[in-house]
Amino acid sequence: MVKIAVIGTGYVGLVSGACLADFGNRVVCADIDAKKISQLKKGIIPIYEPGLEDVVSNNVKAERLIFTDDLRAAIGESEVVFIAVGTPPRPDGSAELSQVEAVARQIGRVIADYKVVVTKSTVPVGTARKVRSWLTEELVARGVPDISFDVVSNPEFLREGSAVFDFMHPDRIVIGAETQRARDIMKAVYRALYLTETPYIETGLETAEMIKYAANSFLALKITFINEIANLCERVGADVQDVAKAMRRDKRIGPKFLHPGPGYGGSCFPKDTKALAWLARQAGSPLTLVEATIAANERQRELMLAKIEKGLAGEGGLAQKTLALLGLTFKPNTDDLRDSPALDIAQGLLARGAILRLYDPIALQTAKASFNATAERVYLARDEYDAITGAHALIIATEWNQFRNLDLTRIKGLLRAPYFFDLRNIYQRQAVEEKGLRYFGVGK
Ligand code: UGA
Repeated sequence: MVKIAVIGTGYVGLVSGACLADFGNRVVCADIDAKKISQLKKGIIPIYEPGLEDVVSNNVKAERLIFTDDLRAAIGESEVVFIAVGTPPRPDGSAELSQVEAVARQIGRVIADYKVVVTKSTVPVGTARKVRSWLTEELVARGVPDISFDVVSNPEFLREGSAVFDFMHPDRIVIGAETQRARDIMKAVYRALYLTETPYIETGLETAEMIKYAANSFLALKITFINEIANLCERVGADVQDVAKAMRRDKRIGPKFLHPGPGYGGSCFPKDTKALAWLARQAGSPLTLVEATIAANERQRELMLAKIEKGLAGEGGLAQKTLALLGLTFKPNTDDLRDSPALDIAQGLLARGAILRLYDPIALQTAKASFNATAERVYLARDEYDAITGAHALIIATEWNQFRNLDLTRIKGLLRAPYFFDLRNIYQRQAVEEKGLRYFGVGK
């Protein structure tokens, strides 16, 4: 059992804190946002993440997990302090580190004995070393330069929507550290996983930081690659589903992240690819593939709009056409709308004069704010079928499970014109066309 403080109760902090408590550690989750902490104390979880509420309440009950807005106390009573605050992107793509700096300095202002200070948020290569100097500056200013501490980089690889599962069943744990003492303590933190032989990769600080960016950028590149192959398939009469199916069988390529669609979104891939590209330019070693990935991913959203516009050309274009758009989050099982392709596509359709009937299982009300200026052309539907009623076309933008098995006969009856845009390839062309609908997928 290790005493842990997790600073920052956002997405990463909350999931990490709850799961680390579930591994048997004593965890204090701290945040300067007193309102958020008081909600958490009442068991109200500010994000939608399957399974999280149970892990939180079980561990609160077992007295392994507590919440506080007293950062000083949280840090003081812990041996390991995880920094899990936000690192939002600046306009040039670089990451904004002021919150990380503030926490590092706060730690330096309060510690009285040895701590392991861990960066958990995705931070640029070199940040762990900066954390060390910020903290050291504060110790020196206090006149206590001899209080010792170690910094560790421990990137997280969890996906929104399956974050709890991913934290409990990681493909690997990466620990970037500089002393054996820190490595041993981190091993104790992850003892529950270490015992199940989860691969445990120990590296230096910069390497651990680079692993996260390289992994996310590679995955973004993989998605973008299959998107571009899909676009080409449409031109030459090939079917990307079969191409991807055969590619997946090659163990060197692997089975995952080969689903074409409107491009990747969310709070990670767009931000991390840009941050890595920025870092590479700064370091004089540009990453041309990552730069191309970023550009191609932005183009993919435009291509989806063009597909819909072209598909409806026979109806006289998009102006004044009513379109049902299903799914607004950047992927299913999350309430996260950040950098969601679906939202961009919705905005693009509105800019072309369309009227939208929107439905999303979780994020409909939150999404409302994005459409203020065009509110009179946006209707928030009660469910899928309400959205479809009277529309000229149906567009599936996010593959929530409940959209995978829609009643196609009912849809045909509710639509005013028979257009079916499946931007996530979750339907078979034949099954849709048999019902008298016109099917448009991605790359087939
Ligand atoms: C991603 C990584 O998968 C996590 O390992 C990582 O920890 C996380 O970023 C992070 O850095 O915090 P996440 O953004 O939650 O996780 O979502 P993914 O499931 O990776 O999906 C990202 C985007 O790619 C979504 O928009 C999804 O629709 C899209 N995608 C994914 C595709 O278009 N095709 C695919 O085959 C896979």
